[in-house]
Amino acid sequence: MQGSRILLVIGGGIAAFKSLTLIRDLQREGCRVVPVLTRAAEEFVTPLSVAALAGEDVHRDLFDLTREAEMGHIQLSRDADLVVVAPATADLMAKMAGGHADDLASTLLMATDKRVLIAPAMNVRMWLHPATQRNLATLKQDGVLVVGPDEGDMACGEFGPGRAAEPQDIVAAIRGALGPARPAPLRLGPEVAAKPLKGRHVVVTSGPTREPIDPVRYISNHSSGAQGSAIAAALRDLGARVSFVTGPAQFAPPEGVEVIPVQTADEMQAAVEAALPADAAVMAAAVADWKVANAADRKMKKGRDGMPVLEFAENPDILAWVSQLAERRPQLVVGFAAETNDVIANATAKRQRKRCDWIVANDVSAGTGTFGGEDNTVTLISADGAESWPRMGKDAVARKLAERIAEAL
Ligand code: C5P
Repeated sequence: MQGSRILLVIGGGIAAFKSLTLIRDLQREGCRVVPVLTRAAEEFVTPLSVAALAGEDVHRDLFDLTREAEMGHIQLSRDADLVVVAPATADLMAKMAGGHADDLASTLLMATDKRVLIAPAMNVRMWLHPATQRNLATLKQDGVLVVGPDEGDMACGEFGPGRAAEPQDIVAAIRGALGPARPAPLRLGPEVAAKPLKGRHVVVTSGPTREPIDPVRYISNHSSGAQGSAIAAALRDLGARVSFVTGPAQFAPPEGVEVIPVQTADEMQAAVEAALPADAAVMAAAVADWKVANAADRKMKKGRDGMPVLEFAENPDILAWVSQLAERRPQLVVGFAAETNDVIANATAKRQRKRCDWIVANDVSAGTGTFGGEDNTVTLISADGAESWPRMGKDAVARKLAERIAEAL
């Protein structure tokens, strides 16, 4: 985070006071915070206190001609590494979802080419209102990242979801969004400059899936999404149009790809289907094998109904499904296999069972350090046999795989 520049849009809600702590916390992490206040926010925090804390001018007015001459709102929105909206009120979310641009905050949210993270905060009824939930779904679909809201006692005296996330949780979300391990830019060789995948479309799945138990609990796994992100970036660098279907990963997705955020395996399958046709599909996601068949639509309460018993239903195998499509099967389908023993035999059997073209097999047994580590040792299994690659960084694996895909298409 050190050295990052955060454009902080403060919306008009009682939680605006938390943004003062957020400014301090971000500065402690070495960030520069450039604050923007909406008209309504000025009713809750004063421009003077925000400016004094941030040590920066506070931007307030779209039609501030002096500032417009010094720094236009377009520039303001692009100079940042990340745009954060905290608190994001129901009104600001509606404006963002509807594409309004009638004041400085909404205009720069429209004009920015950077990732946007929102921390919604509002009364519980406003949060649960179908209009807000619809706007939330639209914003997520647009790739906007969301932290909170929390559940608890609210300033208005009610209880429920809608309370602003705590500053430390917003800082953690910002850290994730800035992507500490965003795949390093690849060094481009002459073949890369030639963009051999120009005009090609590749679908990449990545990260874990989350299968809900009730509205606040889920089943997931430790996939970080690092390898999938690196593959998407490498394909992009070779000129491909990449549809990046990602579960909730620990790292920010690479820039320059179409990000389709999903939660569950069912959503992932629907997103892959919607992204087709494609020339190739690379399924690097760690999809949960099972979902909870009897997920509750209200939070399960301790003690009231005794110990809950979860029933499971099998999730679709997205790799097997895409490999067996009759008409819209991509020309090349690549799967992954994380094995702990008999890596080549197991992965070869998996390739045949799922009917994909290639399997990238890796040994994740204890001591290899592959899970969550920087490096990977893989074997590429195709109809022609198994080819073991030397141990290398996940970025290098991604680059080599992307080059192989370019050769095959
Ligand atoms: O069967 P297994 O989970 O080991 O297979 C791993 C491969 O299958 C990966 O490429 C993974 O993305 C894919 N997969 C999938 N849908 C599932 C399970 C796995 O696409 N439900």
